[in-house]
Amino acid sequence: MSRFVSKEASLLAPYTPGEQPQDQQYIKLNTNESPFPPSPKVVKAVSRAELLKLNLYSDPACQPLAEATARHYGLRAENVLTGNGSDEILAFAFRAFCGRDRGVAYADITYGFYKAQTALFGLSATIVPLREDFTLCVDDYMDFPGTIIIANPNAPTGMAVPREDIQRLLEADPDRVVIVDEAYVDFGAESCVPMIFRYDNLLVVGTFSKSRSLAGGRVGFALGSAELIGCLNRVKYSFNPYNVNRLSIVAGTAAMEDQPYFEACCASICQTRAWTAGELERLGFAVLPSQANFIFVKSDRLSGEELYRKLKENGILVRWFDAGRIRDYVRITIGSLEQMEALVETTAALLEAL
Ligand SMILES: Cc1ncc(COP(=O)(O)O)c(C=O)c1O
Repeated sequence: MSRFVSKEASLLAPYTPGEQPQDQQYIKLNTNESPFPPSPKVVKAVSRAELLKLNLYSDPACQPLAEATARHYGLRAENVLTGNGSDEILAFAFRAFCGRDRGVAYADITYGFYKAQTALFGLSATIVPLREDFTLCVDDYMDFPGTIIIANPNAPTGMAVPREDIQRLLEADPDRVVIVDEAYVDFGAESCVPMIFRYDNLLVVGTFSKSRSLAGGRVGFALGSAELIGCLNRVKYSFNPYNVNRLSIVAGTAAMEDQPYFEACCASICQTRAWTAGELERLGFAVLPSQANFIFVKSDRLSGEELYRKLKENGILVRWFDAGRIRDYVRITIGSLEQMEALVETTAALLEAL
């Protein structure tokens, strides 16, 4: 490490993103993007006229985007904060609701960025193991005095917690913030958004990266009471007031307003997920019950690492985590039906060749 690095930076635990080859020669099933392009309404909205306004700063309140998001969820704009991907929103939330005297709790197997951001802000983290079968049991968090973050559905398992379990957590301690990261909720899980008006300690975080085909646009959001959103805004305006660029505000607004396209994309993913899970089970795989746009699978004939490497050699990228009790699994993003047919065919041939 350079002698110029600060002590604080030397202590960071940077997140390793999934591989992002820029040449598109792979069937890319490793970072839970949508296989579908953005809505045609997005393509139209990001017009030459909008490009010609790039000499001007973007709207710091992201008004059209916040309003479209609020309308979609039956909320008011004061209940919404939009950000440069939900990763940025998560950072605002950690800074806003955790500190020296208030740590954060999250599962041992969950989205890797929680650990990276906890280290960035020097927070104390309490790691709560998932149960043996990878279920998250909210009883394990009941007595935790700090902020709780739960990815629901969880990543990389795809498994979801029922809304009433989160409700029990919110009620157990009204003075503790519970952040529910709903990056994957649109693929079949129960959203906690309807509870926002009842519980002022609930913050729901969402993203346009998965179900709205805008991973490259970097648009995320938080939904909560006006007071919680106010706390996030304190952080945002201390860090980057123009956090969403002009083109992403326009693109996100159009994506949020195209309900039929959104529904069609989600329905297609859910259908293809069921097909893929069935085919892999037929090949002898154990498939965890997923309510997300990916599945977490394990074969007893090939290790997770071998499967990842052999698929990669055959032009298919999936995600393998070299970590503890998930080492035997790979996470496979649900792509188009054609992509999943290729995955199943290649996997069958790999098993055949053993
Ligand atoms: C659980 C979870 N939350 C948040 C994110 C971040 O999404 P983005 O920053 O693209 O909005 C991801 C990305 O994969 C995720 O898996």
